[in-house]
Amino acid sequence: MNASVYLETFGCQMNVADSERANVRLQAAGYELSSSAEAADVIIFNTCSVRERAAHKVFTRIGEVRRQRIGREPIVGVMGCVAQLEGGSIFDASPSVSVVAGTRATDRLPELISRALKGEGRVIDLEERAGGEVWDVPATARTSKYVAFVPIIEGCNKFCTYCIVPYSRGREKSREASDIIAEINELRRHGYREIHLIGQNVNSYRPKTDSGLEGIKGATPFCRLLRAVAATGMERLKFTTSFPRDFHPDILAAIDEHENLCEWIHLPVQSGSDRVLRAMRRGHTASDYLKRIDAIRRARRNISVTSDIIVGFPGETAADFRETLKLVEEVGYDGLYIFKYSERPDTPAASLLDDVTREEKSARFMELETTQRNFQKKIYERYVGRELRVLVEGASSKSPSDKTGHSTCHKVVNFPGDGSMLGQVVNVRITVAKQNSLYGEVISAP
Ligand code: 5AD
Ligand code: SF4
Repeated sequence: MNASVYLETFGCQMNVADSERANVRLQAAGYELSSSAEAADVIIFNTCSVRERAAHKVFTRIGEVRRQRIGREPIVGVMGCVAQLEGGSIFDASPSVSVVAGTRATDRLPELISRALKGEGRVIDLEERAGGEVWDVPATARTSKYVAFVPIIEGCNKFCTYCIVPYSRGREKSREASDIIAEINELRRHGYREIHLIGQNVNSYRPKTDSGLEGIKGATPFCRLLRAVAATGMERLKFTTSFPRDFHPDILAAIDEHENLCEWIHLPVQSGSDRVLRAMRRGHTASDYLKRIDAIRRARRNISVTSDIIVGFPGETAADFRETLKLVEEVGYDGLYIFKYSERPDTPAASLLDDVTREEKSARFMELETTQRNFQKKIYERYVGRELRVLVEGASSKSPSDKTGHSTCHKVVNFPGDGSMLGQVVNVRITVAKQNSLYGEVISAP
């Protein structure tokens, strides 16, 4: 009988994409995929290290899973960002772990597991793959049947002082546009309606060759890629994450030209204080950022903007924090992810004195959250009475008779509906604005 593997994923969409890739490789190598950790022969955790709490989670989960076991002791493996950063020290921290696979070892996971199953004690692979990455994931191996995440660039060259990603994921590596386009065409043939182009900084997309972009205009390779993927005719295209300094206004021109490029931009600002932005080495000031926002507001289409903010960066004063509040009020975000600064080992910011107390970090977090909630309420209320095109993705978790999906402006929209709507794009008239979602009724199904 083939060994069964249970794979659990933490963190961002890049990790979700890597897990899909790992599952494909595992199945091709003859492993059976298991949906439960209780009886699987092998348990793999795909880990995130962006904040301390995320990085600790894997060790908590390993303990939980081992206590729930009904079968014999499993082979336990750690892949992803924690594996890449902590390497062999994971074996000492958690003696039940026997496989450590770094962020570039995804394609080799099957052989690493097979060595562990044969009794090799500690199997570790943190190396880069000679000859480059194999990114492809067939449409049939995806988590969702309607929305697919397609990596276009991996890693990051920015080295913002707080961030671990350049260390966990390495330098930027872009995928050839012809491969991306072929994958999107295949997804389209399999009925996918929405694609998210993903990367830590999609705007700095820079493939080695022009393959797939021949004859396509655009101010940057990313702008050309946007136009090339729009030309595939894929119904809805979204992309994340954008980086303010690399956010070229031609991106907005491309969105204006192509209806299938959705009207949503995730453009993290991190702070509203120039002093803090400098200490973060973001390469932009608050006013540079606001110019980008102005350009977005001037676009033909009404584009939703979301952002990430870190509160309590080392040295952030009450005055710095007020600058952040001011910026958030000025922009009027459709959504905001707020994080308390978390010191990551060996990043440049880790050598700074973190003089913002835990209490102060929490107080700032809550104050910013309240500010955002009040603004967001007003923004969401403006949608009442309007019609949104929603991709029906599943049943609503709160009310089983309702369906849920995202609009082209990336709002969560819930509405009464039945199973036949799944995977369809429907028009929903919004009747109620909730805190983080909209509610409405379907006025036309396809
Ligand atoms: N502490 C807190 N938040 C962080 N982020 C990245 N690194 C840290 C850190 N050390 C946040 C940033 C980023 C998001 C993905 O996570 O806001 O945009
Ligand atoms: Fe976490 Fe960043 Fe790694 Fe994604 S890339 S798993 S967010 S540390």
